[in-house]
Amino acid sequence: MPDSLVFDRVRAGYGNAVVLDDLSFTLGEGQSLAILGRNGVGKTTLLETLMGNTRVRSGHIHWQGQDITAMPPHRRVRAGLGWVPQEREVFPSLTVEENLTVVASPGRWSLDRVYRFFPRLRERRGNYGNQLSGGEQQMLAIGRALMTNPRLLLLDEPMEGLAPIVVDELAAAIKALCDSEGLASIVVEQHPVLALSMTHTAIVLERGTVVYRGSSDDLAQDEKRLESLLGIDASLHLAPGHEL
Ligand SMILES: Nc1ncnc2c1ncn2[C@@H]1O[C@H](COP(=O)(O)OP(=O)(O)OP(=O)(O)O)[C@@H](O)[C@H]1O
Ligand SMILES: [Mg+2]
Repeated sequence: MPDSLVFDRVRAGYGNAVVLDDLSFTLGEGQSLAILGRNGVGKTTLLETLMGNTRVRSGHIHWQGQDITAMPPHRRVRAGLGWVPQEREVFPSLTVEENLTVVASPGRWSLDRVYRFFPRLRERRGNYGNQLSGGEQQMLAIGRALMTNPRLLLLDEPMEGLAPIVVDELAAAIKALCDSEGLASIVVEQHPVLALSMTHTAIVLERGTVVYRGSSDDLAQDEKRLESLLGIDASLHLAPGHEL
């Protein structure tokens, strides 16, 4: 299977600060990747770099055979990168429907299809972005990314702050979506078990570089390894709402 995304020794950051250092990984066509690591190791910066929002000092990023290292952010969206930011960033003064249509580009995902995927959004179609619950904002952020008809979905802590039942639903929905559409995904998630259950492969970052790469199943089963890589108690490996 050809790699659709290649990070090749990328060094990037903000202004004079270098956050990612010598960072390399690949993602196969239609595959899903979990990015794990403690707070502040550079997970969001990796996604920001992929979207073209950081300063890349050296190294290269290839997407579907094209070198996109210097490509401006709006062209990356057109090239098939769909981003669900950590801070949701739904437009507060636009309605749900306007939030969705303002970014639409032609493809399999239409307004009607997004509404069928997230019926709650159809019910709230006339509400403004600032009149939504956290879960609804999250669905809107994902729906909005789908409206751009991406080939790679980037999710930055999609489950943060959501009730356990919504987390389960959303995780299953995202996984089904990727499996049925052959949509590739990168999932940044604080809860390793959840992230690993949604993905094929995983990388662990430490101080802006990759310290582990392998299959998500293997890592999920290696509790000692997870503990040493992430430095957390085994009980925290469980997804939210699944505490012992
Ligand atoms: N806009 C910015 N300008 C300067 N430094 C930044 C900026 N955003 C993040 N950083 C710094 O880059 C480093 C990595 O931050 P990043 O947000 O990528 O971490 P993260 O792994 O996503 O953390 P978290 O798990 O808390 O979301 C941190 O030291 C942070 O302070
Ligand atoms: Mg982050």
